[in-house]
Amino acid sequence: MPSNADLHKRREAAVPRGVANSLAVYAERAANSELWDVEGRRYIDFASGISVLNTGHVHPKVKEAIAKQLDKLTHACFQVTPYESYIALAEALNAAVPGPTPKKTIFLTTGAEAVENAVKIARYHTKRTAIIAFGGGFHGRTTTCIALNGKVAPYKTGFGPMPPDVFHVPFPMAYHGVSAADSLNAIDFLFKVQVDPQRVAAIIIEPVQGEGGFYVAPPELLRKLRALCDQHGILLIADEVQSGFARTGKMFAIEHSGVEPDIMTIAKSVAGGVPLSAVVGKAEIMDAPPPGGLGGTYAGSPLGCAAGLAVMDIIRDERLLERAREMGRFMMPRLQGLQVRFPCIGEVRGLGAMVAIELVKNHRADLPDAELAKALVQACAKQGLITLSCGLYGNVIRFLAPLTISDALLKEGFNLFEKALAEVASSSMANTGA
Ligand SMILES: Cc1ncc(COP(=O)(O)O)c(C=O)c1O
Repeated sequence: MPSNADLHKRREAAVPRGVANSLAVYAERAANSELWDVEGRRYIDFASGISVLNTGHVHPKVKEAIAKQLDKLTHACFQVTPYESYIALAEALNAAVPGPTPKKTIFLTTGAEAVENAVKIARYHTKRTAIIAFGGGFHGRTTTCIALNGKVAPYKTGFGPMPPDVFHVPFPMAYHGVSAADSLNAIDFLFKVQVDPQRVAAIIIEPVQGEGGFYVAPPELLRKLRALCDQHGILLIADEVQSGFARTGKMFAIEHSGVEPDIMTIAKSVAGGVPLSAVVGKAEIMDAPPPGGLGGTYAGSPLGCAAGLAVMDIIRDERLLERAREMGRFMMPRLQGLQVRFPCIGEVRGLGAMVAIELVKNHRADLPDAELAKALVQACAKQGLITLSCGLYGNVIRFLAPLTISDALLKEGFNLFEKALAEVASSSMANTGA
């Protein structure tokens, strides 16, 4: 078996640097919330492959569903010879996405592809072109998505002209003094100085920003956006790629506000580790593009749909909505306790089990400490814990343990985190002379 160092050397020679790795830990196998590297070292996984494993690594029911499907059919292409699992999962998602309006679902493969399709559908239905997105937002790495992203480097820099007709407004960040009213005022201003609301096809928002730093959209913002969209005939797209599938204690984060989106994008945890994504929306809107206007060769693969059906059962049977809330009730006070001890923790925030801390210098929100976040991810790995940073300023650590993690492992993970934090916080204080 090659070592991590051997593989890293080969990786550097064979794979472009544009695909960044936060850790040089090469995964060999995993089960539920534990992962073993190629050297046999065991880690607790608080990253879940960026929020893909709400039902844990290789859940036995997901594995069984994939194995059964493997014996029957791995690919047919839904556009050529359709199959039942695609329809069954579409029916399940149509019922799960909030709101009384009848829904339809199309499957794709990645989150970015779901967002691309949501934009296409919104434009076709409204016969308008402009899209409003939010600062700090992240929607993927394809060309339309990078235009929607609310962060320039490393997503947009050097990647040529952005597709036109995308406008950004600030996302509420109470910690940085940006309120829901500021976001709404910015849209008002946009309508006055840059774009006629009658030209706007959609507003796309993450109900809880993922890559942007786990900022939670206040429910009143989502309700006011709904009213604004209704007033001007604009569609509201909820990007639930990271916040969906029980992570926040509801199936979808937008449910905390009671708002029915017109279109929702879904990916990551939808299929427990198999690449699958979806656009779910009001049936009339989804039916706007003509036959042939939507689709993809691999979109909604039989393996992904079989896994997705198993994930829906697991969320219900293992009561993962309640579990996410319970995990949040454990994580928030634990991190708030650390915040009292460590002045580098500027804010602890989250919704359900979508929880993060923001790292700063000298208690100051305006002094983000991205270097500390980087060092902390490395120090956690040394302790045997996989974590992820994120944030507009790169200074946020997010906690995304599988919702199937045991209490014992969750506690053990936080004990490891605390040790790593103590180590990097003391060296960072020594470096700054604090
Ligand atoms: C909210 C959101 N939308 C879209 C995407 C893009 O998903 P993918 O990386 O599968 O293309 C992500 C990925 O992190 C995301 O968090």
